[in-house]
Amino acid sequence: MTKLKIKEIKTHPEKHLNEKITVKGWIRSVRDQKSFSFIDLNDGSTLSGLQVLFKGERPGYADLLPQLQTGAAIHVEGHLVQSPGEKQAVEIDAEKIHVVGLSDAESYPLQKKRHSFEFLRSIAHLRPRTNTLGAITRVRNTLAFATHEFFQSRGFLYIHTPIITASDCEGAGELFRVSTLDPDKLPKNKEGKVDYTQDFFQKPAYLTVSGQLNAEIYAMASSDVYTFGPTFRAENSNTTRHLAEFWMIEPEMAFATLKEDMELAESFLKFVIKALLERNGEDVAFFDKMISPGIQNMLENVVKTPFEHLSYTKAIEILEKVDRKWEFPVKWGIDLQTEHERYLTEEHFKKPVILTDYPKEIKAFYMRQNDDGKTVAAMDVLVPGVGEIIGGSQREDRLDVLHDKIVKAGLNPEDYWWYLELRKWGSCPHAGFGCGFERLVRFTTGMENIRDCIPFPRTPGNALF
Ligand code: 4AD
Ligand code: MG
Repeated sequence: MTKLKIKEIKTHPEKHLNEKITVKGWIRSVRDQKSFSFIDLNDGSTLSGLQVLFKGERPGYADLLPQLQTGAAIHVEGHLVQSPGEKQAVEIDAEKIHVVGLSDAESYPLQKKRHSFEFLRSIAHLRPRTNTLGAITRVRNTLAFATHEFFQSRGFLYIHTPIITASDCEGAGELFRVSTLDPDKLPKNKEGKVDYTQDFFQKPAYLTVSGQLNAEIYAMASSDVYTFGPTFRAENSNTTRHLAEFWMIEPEMAFATLKEDMELAESFLKFVIKALLERNGEDVAFFDKMISPGIQNMLENVVKTPFEHLSYTKAIEILEKVDRKWEFPVKWGIDLQTEHERYLTEEHFKKPVILTDYPKEIKAFYMRQNDDGKTVAAMDVLVPGVGEIIGGSQREDRLDVLHDKIVKAGLNPEDYWWYLELRKWGSCPHAGFGCGFERLVRFTTGMENIRDCIPFPRTPGNALF
């Protein structure tokens, strides 16, 4: 007898028809009829479960019935048969049901009624069993796997960048400290400051905000590389698009300029979205129906349509002409806010937009200075519903210019000696970007809050187990 996942049964029903199979999962609901019961069984492999027909004449039916409650874990043995019902092609005609883990439906928090996402966040240990979080889990899986497929198919090497770091990649000071010092007994140096030479790494250490600087090291040896790991930002942003811990996909290419970087970003997004539409049709249809009407069509268009390209300066000109009271007034030099980004991509162009050549003052020190002396070779990809989903740039590959930029950014060149040395021997134009994985999940599902796009969200004041 074969143990099957519900996904396998649903994908190839004809292959298993009349076969004796075992299915294991959790009861979503039970409908008792006079002489039989229908159980909706789910194992997380698909959105819709498998219908289990449990006939009254089966041995133990009457004794088992009280145990067949929402939330219980069961094994079902039986033949897969054609279903007379309209909703499903096949069902399992249960010959034997074994209750593995009881559940008291009365006290089980996931009843039939829909709960708010806010409430579900407070039961993060149970919410993966809901339709929406189950679908998010499968979407994340597909997007992550497709990410590897995309980069591998282009010959990129997957590298593992460290989570503990001594440098602030973005230079924004939004770092979580990593230390084993006892906060109640901090050792002090002669100046009265904390003596980090007595700490674990004998100097200050942090959780990484980005794997980029380490990825650049490997790009200077292995040409095209990417890293995909967790990143941490201690920014006090309580928004629907910020997390304190999020995953980032960061490719880095040697012998490449901003042009190749933009091509890579657009192809990457199209590839993973296409994979999602092809592989998770049922989930996408669910998000379209229940969460964000029209999202399926929007995603199909993203795959088909070339992205809009324009400079930051042009974008400012467009925004200045809009007759609207912005919360953050528009003028050349400002850091674009979500309201501006979303206007451009949702209302003006109605498609993903790649903005380039931002003022150097609002971008990180490592971005390559343009010849105009005012802007840097940066690019942000903006998408409907989210705003910035990708941030990238061509990197400053000239030793003297980079040194100068580090100093001007208020950073200490001695801390970046290794980064500078990459420009000393065999420097070359190179470029890369970072795509926030949860922003990608939010974009492709239409979920309102990024906290529901990651299994265990961490935000200011919130780190539930
Ligand atoms: O634009 P960012 O800060 O760029 C970097 O970190 C570069 N070092 C990337 C690179 O070039 N290798 O962040 C990149 C992306 C953003 O576009 C956004 O999608 C996501 O990371 N992101 C966040 N996602 C969730 N919560 C946050 N707090 C985020 N901050 C950035
Ligand atoms: Mg950015």
